[in-house]
Amino acid sequence: MEKINWDDSFSVGVKKIDEQHRQIIGIINKLIDSTNASVDSELISDTLMEMAQYASDHFETEEHLLTEYKYPDYKSHKDHHIEFRKNTVNFSMDTLKYKRTVPVEILTYLKEWWVNHILKIDMKYKAFFVEKDVK
Ligand SMILES: [Fe+2]
Repeated sequence: MEKINWDDSFSVGVKKIDEQHRQIIGIINKLIDSTNASVDSELISDTLMEMAQYASDHFETEEHLLTEYKYPDYKSHKDHHIEFRKNTVNFSMDTLKYKRTVPVEILTYLKEWWVNHILKIDMKYKAFFVEKDVK
């Protein structure tokens, strides 16, 4: 599977959020790498847990910022986060059952969810934060 290549099209213009998105993409790329080698099942579940934890912290940062500046589309944005949280918990549990690679459907879900979320959903607040002068 091809890794995600970060480029400027992923930038939402807020430094802290961009940094967190890069970290998340880094974790996904690490998981994609791990499909090329047989690795410890513990590493897989640890990495998935890391992803869930990191994503959760990131959503908090983002939601905090969106609330602080009264982003009009906050509710529907938050719903996307809730959906991701729910799915990540489910598949972290599944994967804890000693798999040596991340099942391709999980990896595809992670990759597609984040690329789509950043480029389509998060990108909607880019102009909003530019207007509020949040960098
Ligand atoms: Fe988001």
